[in-house]
Amino acid sequence: EPTAESAAAHAAASHVHADALERAAAANTALLATRDDRWYPTFHIAAPAGWINDPNGLIHFQGRYHVYFQHHPAGTDWGTMHWGHVSSEDLVTWRREPLALAPSLEADRDGIFSGSAVEDEDGTLAVLYTGHRWNNGTDDSGGVTQVQCLATSEDGVRFTKHGTVIEAPQDVLDFRDPKVWRQDGTWWLVAGAQSTDHRGQVRLYRSEDLREWTFATVLFEDPDPSAYMLECPDLFPLGDRWVLTYCPMTTARPAGYAGRNGHNAGYVIGDWAPGEQFRTAAEYRPADWGHTYYAPQSFEAPDGRRLQLGWMGGFTLPLASQAEDGWSGQLSVPRELTLGEDLRLRALPVAELATLRDSAGERVLEDADIPSDVTEVLLEDVDACEIELEVDLARTTSEQVALEVQRTASGCTWVAYDDQSGRVVLDRRTSGGGPGDRGYRSAPFDGGDTLRLRVLVDRGSVEVFLGEGEETLSSLAFPADGPRSLALTSVGGVIHVTRLVARRLHPMWETPDR
Ligand code: FRU
Repeated sequence: EPTAESAAAHAAASHVHADALERAAAANTALLATRDDRWYPTFHIAAPAGWINDPNGLIHFQGRYHVYFQHHPAGTDWGTMHWGHVSSEDLVTWRREPLALAPSLEADRDGIFSGSAVEDEDGTLAVLYTGHRWNNGTDDSGGVTQVQCLATSEDGVRFTKHGTVIEAPQDVLDFRDPKVWRQDGTWWLVAGAQSTDHRGQVRLYRSEDLREWTFATVLFEDPDPSAYMLECPDLFPLGDRWVLTYCPMTTARPAGYAGRNGHNAGYVIGDWAPGEQFRTAAEYRPADWGHTYYAPQSFEAPDGRRLQLGWMGGFTLPLASQAEDGWSGQLSVPRELTLGEDLRLRALPVAELATLRDSAGERVLEDADIPSDVTEVLLEDVDACEIELEVDLARTTSEQVALEVQRTASGCTWVAYDDQSGRVVLDRRTSGGGPGDRGYRSAPFDGGDTLRLRVLVDRGSVEVFLGEGEETLSSLAFPADGPRSLALTSVGGVIHVTRLVARRLHPMWETPDR
């Protein structure tokens, strides 16, 4: 039973948290007044203003989908981490929610880092997040103290903090990003760790009540010794296997087409049961081949689908929107994951996204030839659109099957099947907008004579899905000023289009921000 003294301490603590949230919200409102919308997403989750990174606490709770995210509400750079929040009834139209969590305890003094959510047996939402402290109070140079904290909520909107539930073990340098699930009547949790000898690990814990946790085992250590820390691990069943996604921080240089981003996410497939070690059945593969798909987190939808969102943004290079536009970073569209017989993930946009389709002015090509070196404009003056393309490569002589997306008078983002390399390329060297990283990325194509692409274009991003989602490419991409169009281009030969549909997409926000 709470004593009068503990009740008073609790009230004081929640006051401190409420004040911290209020101050952060005021700073965010001030930043919103400066927001430029030229690249601001119309159908992707982003903060009203300020910086975001990882998706956190993904859950369907009390009839709504909740997405929280790493958020610096007062600036366009990574900074003191809070949890921002949006919710949706249908996974398609989204509502802004108040900031969920702000630093207010000694344990989370320097940041509310990433974490996850579950619904407990009493119907309360419980989130486990990392409380972050710099040992010297200002930066990494003196080491960090990272502990796992619990907060609960009756409505998913207002949270009560319960402080540290897992202290940092002695033998780790980093320890963060708890992902919780329930299995056979027990709560399980994985967290990423850097061991004192600089190996990237996933550590497993168990609990009966979400409050008292017992260390179970080092579930996984990256066989790659250059991977010194694994961020944002996520362990979940899919088909008759288990998937372990994680983000290796590594000292290795990029190798060939892989590992090109400052931060890379990937997965291994294996087997696991309570009490056992994780046994790898298929080696590491990238989660996505684009410039910006990091810290993905998954959750189970009420109908059993495994859905995943990733962060589209970057730590290592300045992003165009960051410089002047008052916001930085967005999440990917929600994806449905399935497991192929080849033990590789498939990822496709959730079916619900189809409700954003605007059929007015839709452009359809069927059984059509695009002659050699022709640019066929498909849509004019379009910010957000979707392209479904099927090409018969046996009847195509064009070296590339190229979609020019975000196309302005001074450039475009180039999404193309390249017949010489046999890969699908997402090239933003000519995107045209603002400062930021350039370069191209590409994914292997393995579809024989049938090229199938689905491409989602927003004001500042492009996502490409190959075939049934065997490979994906997700990148922020910032076009130059002026109206944007969409075109299909052939290079030195003919393209035989089996079928193409290009259509606009409606915006997803329930209410405008201002
Ligand atoms: C991954 C990450 C997490 C951490 C969070 C901090 O992008 O570095 O490991 O919890 O972001 O914002």
